Amino acid sequence: MQKRNTAHNPMDDIDRILVDEPTIKARLKELGQEINEAYEGRDLAVIAIINGAIIFVADLIRELSIPMQLDCIRISSYRDDTKPVQAPEVIDKIRLDLKGIDVLIIDDILDSGNTLSRVTSMFQAMEPASLKTCVLLDKNTTRSVQFEADFVGFQIPDEFVVGYGLDFAERYRQLPCIGVLRPELQNPPEWS
Ligand code: IMP
Ligand code: MG
Repeated sequence: MQKRNTAHNPMDDIDRILVDEPTIKARLKELGQEINEAYEGRDLAVIAIINGAIIFVADLIRELSIPMQLDCIRISSYRDDTKPVQAPEVIDKIRLDLKGIDVLIIDDILDSGNTLSRVTSMFQAMEPASLKTCVLLDKNTTRSVQFEADFVGFQIPDEFVVGYGLDFAERYRQLPCIGVLRPELQNPPEWS
């Protein structure tokens, strides 16, 4: 069982902020506009990869003025640490039939590329009219699988970040900004 001092503000665990709340809000307006233009006259299915994309998708789709459907897929590749421990695994499938429709997969962050390459090849088999990807963050790192997203919110350095939907052991998702966790809190001994 993970023990943690709960009598503190999670914001205090942040070493430094990489993207603040107003910057996220402003970029989401632009991103929404890019998506509206790319899919003008089309009918879109947005597939959110949860839990990470939950906050991003909730805010981004409210910038969309095109008709759309929403579904979620639950993928897991992390345990309670900052490095993936297994290949991405589908825990909960989507319900929408993607055949013949435009599909936009949304995730919080593109890191190794494993998650999005796995999910896109899975959805490709469902024969959508088109298949694109959108991430809030694109981590500047060496990918284990070659993958680039079609729509990107921000490029960030190769650091473990939390907030705005991104978690460490399911914590910090509620932070309104994106920040780097204090180094001593990444994989501390009392968590394992
Ligand atoms: P990938 O499969 O390595 O590209 O990683 C994608 C998933 O890993 C994301 O959906 C996140 O859930 C998680 N992830 C990768 N980097 C970070 C990070 O810096 N903070 C929190 N989660 C991350
Ligand atoms: Mg995660």
